[in-house]
Amino acid sequence: MRFEKHVFICTNERAPGGRPSCGEACGMELVKLFKKAIKDRGLKGRMRAQRAGCLDACEHGPSVVVYPEGVFYGGVKPEHVDEIVEQHLIQDRPVERLIIDFSKDTPSDD
Ligand code: FES
Repeated sequence: MRFEKHVFICTNERAPGGRPSCGEACGMELVKLFKKAIKDRGLKGRMRAQRAGCLDACEHGPSVVVYPEGVFYGGVKPEHVDEIVEQHLIQDRPVERLIIDFSKDTPSDD
C-alpha cells in the first residue's frame, strides 16, 4: 500500500439549485488544513490528503473519506481536522460522531 492513510476531501462545486456540494462550503479550506496537519506532524510521505470530486455523499457534506478503512465523514468543518488527524490517522480510532450514517439514504443518479 502506498500510503498508511489516504484522505480524500470533496471539493466538488455545483451550480446553485440542485444537490448541495461540498466545494460551496469549505472543501478547499479543508484540503489545505489536512495537508498542513499531516505536514506539521511529520507524516508527509506516509500519509496523504488530496482534493477529490464528488464522493456521492453530497447531502452530508462537506464530505471526507479516509482509506484504507473507507470511513466517510460528513459535516466536516475546519475545527474537526486536527481531531480526525490525531484520532483516526495517528491513533487509528475513527471519530465516530462525524461518521456518515448512509442507512437512510437513497441511491442518487449523479
Ligand atoms: S459534492 Fe461533495 S460529496 Fe458530492
